[in-house]
Amino acid sequence: MVGKGGAGKSVISGTMARVLARDGSRVLALDSDLLPGLSLSLGAGPDPPEPPLREAAEKDEDGRWRLKKGIGPVRAVRRYATDAPDGIRLLQCGKTPREGLEPIMGAVNAFYRVVHRLERARTFDDWALVGDLPAGPRQVAFGWAPYAQTFVAVVQPTAQSALAARRVVRVARMREGARAVLVANRVTGPADVRHVEKLVGESVLAAVPADEGVARAERLGIAPIDHAPASPAVAEIERLVAALAGG
Ligand SMILES: Nc1ncnc2c1ncn2[C@@H]1O[C@H](COP(=O)(O)OP(=O)(O)OP(=O)(O)O)[C@@H](O)[C@H]1O
Ligand SMILES: [Mg+2]
Repeated sequence: MVGKGGAGKSVISGTMARVLARDGSRVLALDSDLLPGLSLSLGAGPDPPEPPLREAAEKDEDGRWRLKKGIGPVRAVRRYATDAPDGIRLLQCGKTPREGLEPIMGAVNAFYRVVHRLERARTFDDWALVGDLPAGPRQVAFGWAPYAQTFVAVVQPTAQSALAARRVVRVARMREGARAVLVANRVTGPADVRHVEKLVGESVLAAVPADEGVARAERLGIAPIDHAPASPAVAEIERLVAALAGG
């Protein structure tokens, strides 16, 4: 999930992960945002004060981070991912603590190495991998989601958001074999969808409505799918999951 800040990446990726898990997929949710988001929209509770993945990393003789001996992607997910509802496993690179990035650098490095080895691990062949990336094109460009077959660019019906989505989509499509689709979020009607499509220059795969249930869930700190399971936004995200599965 990619797009501009506040576009709705965490709400959509968290809800997608829950929908996939309820449909029977084994789901690995991958959170590479250094700021909070995904764990709340998944309904996994607050982020741990220290990222569990920190334990997976050590420094070599030259002071460079590496994964500890014997820690491959399967073991990393088994040991350092945490449980989220519906059987989801959540792997996080960690959240920026008050002291700055230094305390989580081991976890951040471990996360990068683990995601680069996911593809080689047969275990995950039949899993659904759902990643919530931080705002902007940087992580896409620098290979933080090598597991992604489809980049979903979330865009609100504003010019800024659309211009950002256009750039992110262009960067995502540079990756060989990856596709990128657009999802409009917080739309208030068909005019908003047309506006987004005109600004970005292509059609959207789904249009998630601006939804009071999602806003209430946010205020309460509850996952949208738990607080408002029958809301129009959740229904549209269910449709998005089906559309993506259908190719
Ligand atoms: N369809 C919607 N209806 C109403 N509110 C929404 C909807 N989608 C998202 N929001 C609200 O918009 C805010 C931003 O959503 P979210 O955190 O998912 O965005 P984000 O793209 O992950 O942001 P960031 O770039 O900070 O990670 C949240 O308060 C969320 O509850
Ligand atoms: Mg977010």
